Amino acid sequence: MNSFNDILAAPTIFRDRNVLSPHYLPETLPHREKEIERIMKAVSPALKGEKTRNLLIYGKTGTGKTCSVKYVMERLAEAGSEAKVKIAFINCRIYNSRYRILQKVVQDFLPQHDKAGCGLAFLYERILDWIEEDGKCFLFVLDEMDMVKDLDDLTYTLTRSNDEIKKGGVGLVGISNKLSFKDRLDPRTRSSLFETEMVFSPYTSYQLKEILKHRVSKGFAEGSVDEAAINLAAAIAAQDNGDARYALKLLQKAGELADEQKAKVLLDTHVEDARKNVDEDVSYEAISTLPRHQQIVLCAIASLQLEGSRYSRLGDNGDSGDNGLLSGEVYDKYLQAARRFRTEGRSARWYREYLQDLEMLGLITMVESGRGQRGHTRFIKLAYSPQKIMKLIETNILGEGTGAVA
Ligand SMILES: Nc1ncnc2c1ncn2[C@@H]1O[C@H](COP(=O)(O)OP(=O)(O)OP(=O)(O)O)[C@@H](O)[C@H]1O
Ligand SMILES: [Mg+2]
Repeated sequence: MNSFNDILAAPTIFRDRNVLSPHYLPETLPHREKEIERIMKAVSPALKGEKTRNLLIYGKTGTGKTCSVKYVMERLAEAGSEAKVKIAFINCRIYNSRYRILQKVVQDFLPQHDKAGCGLAFLYERILDWIEEDGKCFLFVLDEMDMVKDLDDLTYTLTRSNDEIKKGGVGLVGISNKLSFKDRLDPRTRSSLFETEMVFSPYTSYQLKEILKHRVSKGFAEGSVDEAAINLAAAIAAQDNGDARYALKLLQKAGELADEQKAKVLLDTHVEDARKNVDEDVSYEAISTLPRHQQIVLCAIASLQLEGSRYSRLGDNGDSGDNGLLSGEVYDKYLQAARRFRTEGRSARWYREYLQDLEMLGLITMVESGRGQRGHTRFIKLAYSPQKIMKLIETNILGEGTGAVA
């Protein structure tokens, strides 16, 4: 008979599975000491009751932006007087407009004013009164800030609030993995908004190895992970954008595979197998949360790649054309595909931005033509098999209720 006891009693090489989960915040963050120091410097004025320096943090996915900022905010909350330093850590993927962000702050800090249907002005006034009451320093931490739909309005509101407050101040820490999102902002607010900018660079294989070693010592039973397995996971993730999240996921999956095979030691072969598994998960996750237009662009790339590029078949200086697809032909195909999905195609300017998003997520790669014959163009390649991507987008995503990908 099946029993939970049997399942719980099954031997496992994990000591604490939680340590490998994406939500776990480690006590130390190796190789982010300098970045952490800079964030601390930027927000330290709050401890003296002064407005903090606005900070914008960029970097590719999995480079430790969220966890570094969380780490600093925990220290800041400990160091500051509870009444005076207030921090709102907001995930803009969920709270994705000025209204929803202010509403969330009222919900968390001023629940007595949280009533259905409050206007924006009401929320804004309540927050300002509360800050001024005793000269608080309020810190908005906006993670995945690029997801905010009315970012210009939000930045305007936050900048203006500091002019209106007589006592205390409002500071902002913005985090984003879209390097280009700032270009969308009104240039006037841009400079005042981000007084300090930081870039988190991808981790090297060596750095990932150390990060993994820390986790292994807590998450796995002693002696149950072979050094070669750690090295391989670090090397794979370093090649793939230096993404620590990916490295951890590889190791977690490899551990599960080892458990399934009742192995006592996690080996590099488990990591090798895990890679195939994780790649599927990661790409599925990345694609299914993409906004609609990015999905359509991706679909256009996949279908062109399946048909074979018209231009590349012409050959390029005898080159057989496996450079990839030309940016222009993909744009034409995108417009076609948009019609098919009953969506209005956007301008080429937007299209270029979508390409950047897709590249950032590791779904495509782009190379500049560099030869000058066709002006300045780019070659685009899909990082996954076009069949798989087409199927995913057509059946799973655009096929069913598409509310989530508006
Ligand atoms: N220096 C580090 N030491 C230990 N763990 C780390 C380090 N950097 C990142 N991690 C871990 O890697 C994972 C990804 O980190 P994090 O969420 O901070 O990335 P991110 O830069 O915010 O990525 P995204 O842009 O996708 O949001 C987390 O599980 C985090 O704990
Ligand atoms: Mg993050």
